[in-house]
Amino acid sequence: MTQSSVLSPQSSFATAPGKIILFGEHAVVYGRPAIAAPVTQVRATAVVEDSATPGVRLRAPDLGRDYWLEAAAEDDPFARAGRAVAEAAGRRLPDLVITVQSTIPIASGLGSGAAMAAAVIRALARHLGASHLAEDEQVSALTYEVEKLLHGTPSGIDNTVVAFERPVYFVRRQPQNLIETFQVATPLHLLVADTGQASATGLVVGDVRRQWQAEPARFEALFDGCGRVAEAARPAIEQGEVERLGRLMAENQAYLQEMTVSSPELERLIAAALAAGALGAKLSGAGRGGNMITLIRPEQEAAVREALLAAGARSVLATVLR
Ligand code: MEV
Repeated sequence: MTQSSVLSPQSSFATAPGKIILFGEHAVVYGRPAIAAPVTQVRATAVVEDSATPGVRLRAPDLGRDYWLEAAAEDDPFARAGRAVAEAAGRRLPDLVITVQSTIPIASGLGSGAAMAAAVIRALARHLGASHLAEDEQVSALTYEVEKLLHGTPSGIDNTVVAFERPVYFVRRQPQNLIETFQVATPLHLLVADTGQASATGLVVGDVRRQWQAEPARFEALFDGCGRVAEAARPAIEQGEVERLGRLMAENQAYLQEMTVSSPELERLIAAALAAGALGAKLSGAGRGGNMITLIRPEQEAAVREALLAAGARSVLATVLR
């Protein structure tokens, strides 16, 4: 290390947004289409700095963590992210301090794990001067490696949305996932409300898998239903048919209830939004807690927000899909 780099450490920065699944969660793991969008108001950021102390130190104050990646457990997501970048770059990581911060609520279905991993991966790639690894496609692929560790059998939709930071129509398939963008004819106004209950994606996805193994025909039919909803939602978004989208959200929620991934808290918030006049509402992400989303007309925002808070929402954020 040169003296100048000790006196003024080089640093690299990257950020990734939260995400919502508009249509098709769970079924997307089984190859059905799904639609997801970034939530740019909440973000994870990573700063990578040269260090004069040997090793790679990871500081994540929001998670209450400060440790050395070399000493981390095999299944530590940040250690996996670091290894993924080092392997792809074909070199070991130099001595570094990585600081990760996030305003994305944890375990809420908003993709905080994927966003933190994507931010770390992109910042590390930039710091190593491996600019090809900092491209969206590479960041998404490397983040998927971390997602596998967190969730077992992720579809790939979360890492895609947070890395590309744009709405996507996504189908998991071999040898390459289908990832398409689409036009949004009329801006879609959404509220995202947090039940305040932790949603453990890996556990819920694992439980859906057990149910599918026990009752394959019934679950295949449920996944088909979700797939049809996502297929119908895409032209509805492209043609600005907001009322139809509201009905499709209700249909999707009914399939998710059948999969047993809703919860009384999610149902309470969904009912409150609909009673306040929202066009549609459903859970978003893995479910059994976490967030729900509701589609509204812009003039309904205050009333629906108030209804959600009165029904117990921990927080409500507004986002517009354009
Ligand atoms: C989680 O955001 C979405 C799920 O469909 C899991 C996945 O796609 O990997 C529940």
